[in-house]
Amino acid sequence: MAGEEIVVIPGDGIGTEVVPAARRVLDHVGEFEFVEADAGDAVAEETGEALPAETYDRVASADATLFGAAGETAADVILPLREAVDSFVNVRPARAYPGVDAVRPETDLVFLRENTEGVYSGHEDRLSEDLSTLTRVVTTSASERLAEFACEFVAERGTGGFHVAHKANVMRETDGRFRDAVVGVADERGVAAEEVLMDAFATKVCLDPAQFDVVVCPNLAGDVLSDLAAGLVGGLGLLPSANVGPDRGVFEPVHGTAPDIAGEGVANPAATILSAAMLLESLGYDAAGESVREAVEVVLSEGPRTPDLGGDAGTDEVTDAVLARL
Ligand code: NAI
Ligand code: MG
Repeated sequence: MAGEEIVVIPGDGIGTEVVPAARRVLDHVGEFEFVEADAGDAVAEETGEALPAETYDRVASADATLFGAAGETAADVILPLREAVDSFVNVRPARAYPGVDAVRPETDLVFLRENTEGVYSGHEDRLSEDLSTLTRVVTTSASERLAEFACEFVAERGTGGFHVAHKANVMRETDGRFRDAVVGVADERGVAAEEVLMDAFATKVCLDPAQFDVVVCPNLAGDVLSDLAAGLVGGLGLLPSANVGPDRGVFEPVHGTAPDIAGEGVANPAATILSAAMLLESLGYDAAGESVREAVEVVLSEGPRTPDLGGDAGTDEVTDAVLARL
């Protein structure tokens, strides 16, 4: 590993606890050049800007970025960060781990969430005292780009197909376009794309998650359904994610700033360390990424564990255990 530049943005709340933990792991497995950058509520209070231009520019040119979480300014931070790397898909694996108490221990899913449009494209208006509206944006090009990624993803994963979750029976124009584009690309590539209505999916995944593997979703649905899956596997402290762009990515836990436990030193670092494993793989260090993931798995299984998983260890103790395994 030769000096790749990694921007680290702790952000707010437990971001300032779990990002340094993951950085220790990256530092342990490679020789990286870390650049610490600001984003979130704290810097917004100081400077009026939740995402300083300097941070944006760094992220846009660095080899990869590790981000923790931002509080009230989350949307002002994460949406531009995703844009800075032209991220068109948010990869969110949600799996249960041996030894961790899970509602559904057989869960092993990967959500591929559209990352640029849908209801998160920022077109909201207040038209009167009584009325606000939101414009939902869906393009064939973004949907096809996501589908092409999904086809390659399942080919690498060695599975024959994916589910596509949508609500085209109601949102006929927008989700109809999304569905047609995704299924169209899959058909061309000989990949099986099975449709599932997103509300029905929410029930089915709780009752029998084993029937699903890779799930392609519009933006909001991917956000909500992956949090639901977090509930099936033992909580938000376990879910990593990758905002993938053509040349670089932003890697972040799915969780937020966890104000209820921030500052106590008990945040579960697993989600962020697993995000760092995805970061390593994005740089081509597949073996290092895999060994980090395995080390986390062993520690989750044998302990020590943080309180969200029923343990009494702190963030540092869990991180030390992961480092010891490596
Ligand atoms: P949250 O993910 O911060 O917390 C939800 C629950 O999960 C809390 O009980 C928390 O203690 C627990 N939790 C989350 N991560 C954990 C970890 N690593 N270890 C142990 N327990 C963990 O979501 P919430 O409470 O809805 O949002 C809090 C703040 O975070 C809000 O200001 C929100 O805007 C922001 N947020 C930021 C995100 C981002 O920056 N990407 C994503 C989601 C929320
Ligand atoms: Mg979310």
